[in-house]
Amino acid sequence: MRILLAVSGGDAPGINAAIWHIARRAAAAGDTILGARGGLPAVLNGDIIEITPNMALPFAALPGSLLPSSRDPVLARADAQAVFTAAIAQRQIDALILFGGNGTLRYILPLMEAWGVPCVGIPTTIDNDVPGTDYTLGFDSACNFAYHAIDGARATANALPGRIFTVETLGGDSGYLALAVAHGAGADAVLLPEYEYKDEWLGARLEGAVKRDGYALLVLSEGVKAARTLVDDIPKWTAIRVRDIRLGHAQRGGTPTHTDRVMAANMGDLAFRLLKEDFGVGVLIVRRGIVEIHAGTLEKMDRLLPNRALYDRINAL
Ligand code: F6P
Repeated sequence: MRILLAVSGGDAPGINAAIWHIARRAAAAGDTILGARGGLPAVLNGDIIEITPNMALPFAALPGSLLPSSRDPVLARADAQAVFTAAIAQRQIDALILFGGNGTLRYILPLMEAWGVPCVGIPTTIDNDVPGTDYTLGFDSACNFAYHAIDGARATANALPGRIFTVETLGGDSGYLALAVAHGAGADAVLLPEYEYKDEWLGARLEGAVKRDGYALLVLSEGVKAARTLVDDIPKWTAIRVRDIRLGHAQRGGTPTHTDRVMAANMGDLAFRLLKEDFGVGVLIVRRGIVEIHAGTLEKMDRLLPNRALYDRINAL
């Protein structure tokens, strides 16, 4: 078999490990793995390489993706089906493994299904916002990256009290990542794009934490409407100095953790096995830590809101 790997949208820690595991499996079975160097546009323009276990191995423990990704919506063009199916026929590609987040899995997989291209989607995004799966590859590494930053801030906060630390996570327009980080780090307050808050409440809450502990820790998602102005506003409400930490894309490039390496191995193995068994089109999902296949697409699944009870609990403790 000739299986093509393509990464679409934001990369995530663990993708390289998954690529390596797939390449190992394929080599053992006598199959060929190809990789698109630039997401789906590369499938069309033919920037495709062969991936062997040896060339993938040096990247296996690294974040990012050895196969460059793209956010270019090339499959939205009118002649996409003809161009895409011709490109894969020309290269004798039997099936696809597609790494991507919410957008990719919801919009590209239905096309593969409609066009009759066997394809397994692997949910990869630090945002953990793909409906239908408890887990997306990279999320644990992104949380751990945030803990390193927060642990460092806490050390200096303890040593020199009297400040409020704001830690902004990535996450796009969803708050799952910030909520998980705030939970694990024991933040004094968390702000998410999905839920409203009141300035007076936030000021009082942070002031209370500074009085009690010497400093306060606020975790907020980049998608919160006033995320940037808060840094200037909080000192006006509280008369306490704010020190701001924006994790930014460094968070997406965090070192793959144990959880993500194991997930990558299990996801890569299952995706390869399914395609060998002539499975068709489906998305890998994780339920209670186990990787399973969801036949068909996630197109019609609604994204759930972040756990409101947990959000309230963090903000009330
Ligand atoms: O992949 C998801 C994500 O990392 C979000 O957390 C973030 O908002 C977005 O991608 C950033 O996208 P870009 O890399 O295109 O700036």
